[in-house]
Amino acid sequence: MTKGTATELEHLSDGELQALLAPDLLPHHIAIIMDGNGRWAAQRGLPRMAGHTEGIKSVRDMIDLCRDLGIKALTIYAFSQENWKRPAAEINALMLLLERYLQMELEALIEKETRFRAIGRVTTLPESALAWVRKVERETAHFDRLNLTVALSYGGRSEIVDAVRRLAEDVHAGTVTPDRIDEDLLEGYLSTHGLPDPDLLIRTSGETRISNFLLWQLAYTEMYFTPTLWPDFRRHDALLALHDYQRRERRFGQTRDQLSDHPDERVGKRSA
Ligand code: IPE
Ligand code: IPE
Ligand code: MG
Repeated sequence: MTKGTATELEHLSDGELQALLAPDLLPHHIAIIMDGNGRWAAQRGLPRMAGHTEGIKSVRDMIDLCRDLGIKALTIYAFSQENWKRPAAEINALMLLLERYLQMELEALIEKETRFRAIGRVTTLPESALAWVRKVERETAHFDRLNLTVALSYGGRSEIVDAVRRLAEDVHAGTVTPDRIDEDLLEGYLSTHGLPDPDLLIRTSGETRISNFLLWQLAYTEMYFTPTLWPDFRRHDALLALHDYQRRERRFGQTRDQLSDHPDERVGKRSA
């Protein structure tokens, strides 16, 4: 169990923070809404793209931390369906940055035995960005040390609509009967199929909303909101988030008394 108050922990080194984490109470899956790049740049009198570019370093930190801690799944929100409403110049620059990131990072992802997958309506991405997405997916498909899922042109409601449409097609084709439809079956049609639900959601930049991210999957996720802007959110901040997570009592509808019969399930998995 994590020790010390939040302010005491802040002064510890990364190594100390890491050593104090309870290995059996780590999340299996972390989801992140990477927000605040524009404000980070504005604070420095820089163009918004400078914030997006700097944010890539935070992504690298999260990948390395998950790998070091043995956390098997990391899902990051990089571009929402709603982000298509931004000025064309920013969208184009973001798409180029995505392409550049994938080119730059492919070797490192392979070296880190990280499987890359994109979720969202990726076919709406520019052709050259989509080609890189597919290439990196293909070339890392055999790894499973860390599952990195990047949400691109992603919307939680559309994901559910797409799942329901495919399910309806199967009902129409006669391969599924309506009485077989339950949560597990529907889950199988979602783009995150095969990943456990996120245990921890982190959103940076002080906003306390979900912004259409993983609406189905976040049903019982622990939420961590921090004012830190994404380009400033590094290993130290993530370790503090993990300590905060380890203080939580995940009850999944049960009472505290029921849980105290099984104290090691405190931040445990959802029971059936
Ligand atoms: C998050 O940073 C990155 C994307 C949404 C692509 P923002 O660009 O939303 O940064 P702020 O919220 O304007 O500071
Ligand atoms: C959410 O951030 C999407 C991503 C981080 C990619 P936004 O900055 O677009 O969210 P809203 O619109 O302020 O809620
Ligand atoms: Mg934002």
